[in-house]
Amino acid sequence: MRRILQSVKEEPRFIEVAKVGDIEKGKMKNVQVEGMDILIANVDGKFYAIDDRCGHMNALLSMGKLVGNIVTCPFHFAQFDVTSGKKVKEPESEEIKDADKLPEDMQNYLSYVETLIEPVKTYDIQSYKLKIEGNKIFLMINA
Ligand code: FES
Repeated sequence: MRRILQSVKEEPRFIEVAKVGDIEKGKMKNVQVEGMDILIANVDGKFYAIDDRCGHMNALLSMGKLVGNIVTCPFHFAQFDVTSGKKVKEPESEEIKDADKLPEDMQNYLSYVETLIEPVKTYDIQSYKLKIEGNKIFLMINA
C-alpha cells in the first residue's frame, strides 16, 4: 500500500469495498483494492481496515482469528491490533518433535531453514481510514 501512498500525490479517494451487512460483528473480510489485499474488520459494530498481509511472512490475516480488536495470524500466530495495524505479539516458533531422530540430510535442511528464518522480523502493518455512508463502506487511499 505504501507504493500507492507515495507514488500518487492526489486528493484522498474513497473506494467502495463492502456493504455494512457483509461483515457481522466479530468477523473479518478480505477485499481486493487496486491489486492489494485489505482486511475489513467489524469490532463491536465499528469497522477498521488494515493490510490483509501479515507483517511476518505475508500470510492472509483474514484467514486467522479475530477476538475483540486483535487478529491472530493463521500461520505463526503473530497478533495485530486491527484498529491501528500495530503488532501486539511476536510469532510463535515451532519446535519439531524428535528432530534429532530425523535423517541427517533432513536435520541439515531444517538447520538451514532455521538460519534463514531467524533474522526475519515482524512489522506493524498499514491501517486505513474508512468512511461509512448508508450501507456502504468506503476505503480511503492516497491520504
Ligand atoms: S506469517 Fe503471520 S505470523 Fe508468520
